[in-house]
Amino acid sequence: MSSKPKVFITRKWPSSVEEKLKIRFDVTLNQDDRPLTADEFKHALQHYDAVCPTVCDSFPADVLKVENKRCKILANFGVGYNHIDADAAKDQNLIITNTPGVLTESTADIAMTLLLMSARRAAEGDRLVRAQQWQGWCPTHMMSSDVTGATLGLIGFGRIAQAMARKAHHGFGMKIIYYKPSPADQSIIDDLNATSCGSVEEVMQSADFVSLHCPGGESTHHLINQSMLDLMKPSAHLINTARGDVVDTQALINSLKTNKITGAGLDVYEGEPNINKGLLDLNNISLLPHLGSATIATRTAMGEKVLNNLDAYFSGHPLPDRIV
Ligand code: DGY
Repeated sequence: MSSKPKVFITRKWPSSVEEKLKIRFDVTLNQDDRPLTADEFKHALQHYDAVCPTVCDSFPADVLKVENKRCKILANFGVGYNHIDADAAKDQNLIITNTPGVLTESTADIAMTLLLMSARRAAEGDRLVRAQQWQGWCPTHMMSSDVTGATLGLIGFGRIAQAMARKAHHGFGMKIIYYKPSPADQSIIDDLNATSCGSVEEVMQSADFVSLHCPGGESTHHLINQSMLDLMKPSAHLINTARGDVVDTQALINSLKTNKITGAGLDVYEGEPNINKGLLDLNNISLLPHLGSATIATRTAMGEKVLNNLDAYFSGHPLPDRIV
C-alpha cells in the first residue's frame, strides 16, 4: 500500500501538473475528463485524503455531509468557490483552498475581449461573413460603439477588475468608475484616475460599459435584475466574466431584445453549461464558453497553486490560499 496521501482530481488538468501530482501523491486522475456525479464526489470524500474540484463541480451541503469521510481538504482548481457550500464545509471541518492571483490578467483579457466584441459587433460580423451574406463595404454598414474615451463601470474592484481597468484606461483611454463596498487602495485609484461610485445603481446609470467582477453566491444572486438593467443607458453594454447567476438572464434577454441596452458579452451563465435558449436567438450578444482563465500558462499556474496548497497541507505548513 502506498504511504503517499491519496488525492482525487475531478477533471483533466494540464499534463505537466498531472505528472507532478503522480510523483508526489497517490493520485486518481480523470483522464476522460467526464463531468462526475454527486455520488462520485461523495465516494471521493469517503476514500481520499484530498479532493480537488474545479469551478464547475458542485459540492452542496448534502454531498459534503456524507458519512465516514476520509477527506480533510478541498483544494479547488479555480479562484471562485461558490460551487462549494463553504458553511457546510466549515461545519464538516473541511478546509477549502483556491487559486487567486494567477488568473487575474487572462480573465481581465477576456473581459476586455468581450467588451471590444460587443462594442464593435465582432461576433455578429463574423456570423455575417461566414453565412456569405456580406454585401460589401458601405458607409452605414454595422456601425457600432466607440471604446476609446468611453466610460467603463466596474461592479466590484478586486484584482481582476483592477487589471481590466488598467488595460482599459492605459490602453484605450477609458474613464474608470467603480463600485466597491470597502475603500480601494489610493495608489491604484490615482494610477487609474478612477472615480468611486456610492452604489451599484450609480455605476449602472453612468457607464457606457458595465463589467461585473463581484463573487458569485447568495449575496450577489441576480444583483443585476430588470430594475438595474433599466438604469443603463440605451447605448450601454453589459459584460459578465464573474458568475452567471449575478445576472437575471431573462431580464437581460428582455433588455437586449427590446434594445433597452445595446449589447452584452458573457463568459459565464446561470446553470452553465446549459444556456438559456433566449440568449442564442439574440444578435446583439457575444457568447464565450467560460474562457476567462483558459490560457496554457494560466491553467498550468492554477494547477501549480493547487499543488502548493496540497504540499503545504500534507507537510503541516501554513496553507498559502486557505479560504475556510
Ligand atoms: C475561476 O477560477 O473562478 C474562474 O472562473 C475560472 O476561469
